[in-house]
Amino acid sequence: MATRLPLIAGNWKMHKTPAETAELLSALVTRLPAALSDREVVVAPPFIALETAARALRGSPIRLSAQNLHAETHGAFTGEVSGPMLKAVGCQYVIIGHSERRQYCGETDEQVAQKVKAAQRDSLTPIVCVGETLAERERGDMLSVISRQIRAGLAGQTAQAIAALVLAYEPIWAIGTGKTASPEQAQEVHAAIRHTLVELAGQSSAAAVRIVYGGSVKPDNVDGLLAQPDIDGALVGGASLQADSFARIVHFE
Ligand code: 13P
Repeated sequence: MATRLPLIAGNWKMHKTPAETAELLSALVTRLPAALSDREVVVAPPFIALETAARALRGSPIRLSAQNLHAETHGAFTGEVSGPMLKAVGCQYVIIGHSERRQYCGETDEQVAQKVKAAQRDSLTPIVCVGETLAERERGDMLSVISRQIRAGLAGQTAQAIAALVLAYEPIWAIGTGKTASPEQAQEVHAAIRHTLVELAGQSSAAAVRIVYGGSVKPDNVDGLLAQPDIDGALVGGASLQADSFARIVHFE
């Protein structure tokens, strides 16, 4: 059995100015140990706060992620930010294909695949998001939708590249709604995702991939979710915006 280092990531979405970022991270740093060996912690502030965040996190074990990137390295793409730019301000991770970007910005599976390749080119670890709508779940299409998102989003990837990715299962009906998937519901999908990864990359690479759960993860439900065999961490939205609740999630038991 591969041992996967649990990953707790906070996706701040469109919250926090640079000043608020410095305040939240200094509160968070004091609530976490100076070194972490049995879990990894990542925060994803908005672009404009990344540099401030990198400064606030210097010397702490918390790592930095962006929430998106453009697939090109540079060029005439007004309003976009590239992988080398993210790397230059200290990011190690980047969230790709979040359902909010798919829904509100029309991001497609093909664009997700291009962004995953760009992140790897630029030495950023992609956190690739997949998940079904409530209608897809109720129609019984949940697993086929997720399998399609994974196969298209990871198209052309080698087994070695897949092994180094993080996948985030975020059922859209659970995001920001307070309705978490039960540990059993989440585990069912995580196991199916791992099965798809076995088909794409083989047993040992699939066993190395961290599959994190996102969707109303809170201090009072994190322990049950993380106790499941294929749930390797959490991608936390709302509860990552306060130091106390995020620190409690990081300290899951
Ligand atoms: P919430 O934790 O606010 O439901 O958000 C989940 C999410 O979308 C993280 O990427």
